[in-house]
Amino acid sequence: MAKKVLVTGGTGYIGSHTVVVLQEAGYEVLIIDNLSNSNIDVIEGITRITHTRPVFEKVDCTDMDGMRAFFEKYPGIDGIIHFAASKAVGESVRKPLLYYRNNIVSLLNLLELMPEFKVKGLVFSSSCTVYGEPDKNPIDEDAPIKPATSPYGNTKQINEEIIRDYIHSGALIKSIILRYFNPIGAHPSAEIGELPIGEPQNLVPYITQTAIGIRPYLKVFGNDYNTPDGSCIRDFIDVMDLSRAHLVAMDRILEGKSDENMEIFNLGTGRGVSVLELIRVFEKVTGKPLNYKIVGRREGDIEQIWANPEKANKVLGWKAETPLEETLASAWKWQLKLRERGIM
Ligand code: WQD
Repeated sequence: MAKKVLVTGGTGYIGSHTVVVLQEAGYEVLIIDNLSNSNIDVIEGITRITHTRPVFEKVDCTDMDGMRAFFEKYPGIDGIIHFAASKAVGESVRKPLLYYRNNIVSLLNLLELMPEFKVKGLVFSSSCTVYGEPDKNPIDEDAPIKPATSPYGNTKQINEEIIRDYIHSGALIKSIILRYFNPIGAHPSAEIGELPIGEPQNLVPYITQTAIGIRPYLKVFGNDYNTPDGSCIRDFIDVMDLSRAHLVAMDRILEGKSDENMEIFNLGTGRGVSVLELIRVFEKVTGKPLNYKIVGRREGDIEQIWANPEKANKVLGWKAETPLEETLASAWKWQLKLRERGIM
């Protein structure tokens, strides 16, 4: 009997890629999403890849009645991967109450429902944002958690504390918290990928939209940082590598491989790459010179952060393997497919 996993936010960027990996590993996958930041057509893309249509219901995780009705309708869910959240740093500064309500109430609802419906495990989508500006890099899971630099980052810190305290209170659930660095790229088939609504906030979709002519040029937010080329440094991780880590984490929980009730892992490549370096790799891979301008720094940006992924490598037996060139080629292939389909 296939194990059942609920993926909240499963029509989103990382959620949809994780659904594909879970289905291909034999899980029965159910998706709920409120479609506030994603499109239901993603379900078609997933189905074209795996030939298995996941259950989908439009549910808002902050709606407790709607959530309870879902669990009553679909009994026997073994685990949850919780992606559903608002995630734009800049927007969170402008709309903090939306972020606190959405990102915290949705988790509280899930945690309350899990024991009621005998759901054993929770894999939680967190972020390296919880670290703030690191004192040193690469950063490991024991690094100090500094005051968040945005309401978005604060909601992730608070969510992690809620999970910790709930489990400490004796809740009969197990949780693995995954702190992502910078997810980029798309499924190799280009059937699914990152599809930001409106002007992209993140670097790589802005680059691909500039290269295809949707945006006149890329603004590089600052080249006066204390880094080798002056631009910020990040740990860019392929979205498929990241998705595979969720499969490993869910397996670990449901197969009882861990003695701990809560574990935390950094998911990165362990390699810092600057914004300007990434642009050069993109130009080399695609053969397309990129039109960009150096402008002022973006408020809230961290200067440099990259992961020490040793704990995930050793304990999970997981490693980010995809070369940056391949990841950027997949992002470009996805952008070309969107153009081919007349989507953008
Ligand atoms: C990366 C670098 C920018 C756009 C955020 C969240 C993180 C995660 C990923 C959710 C920075 C520079 C960007 C542009 C640029 N989100 N940049 N021009 O801010 O590192 O991380 O998104 O899980 O939690 O904090 O990602 O892609 O926005 O920026 O120069 O048009 O690219 O200054 O140095 P970020 P990003």
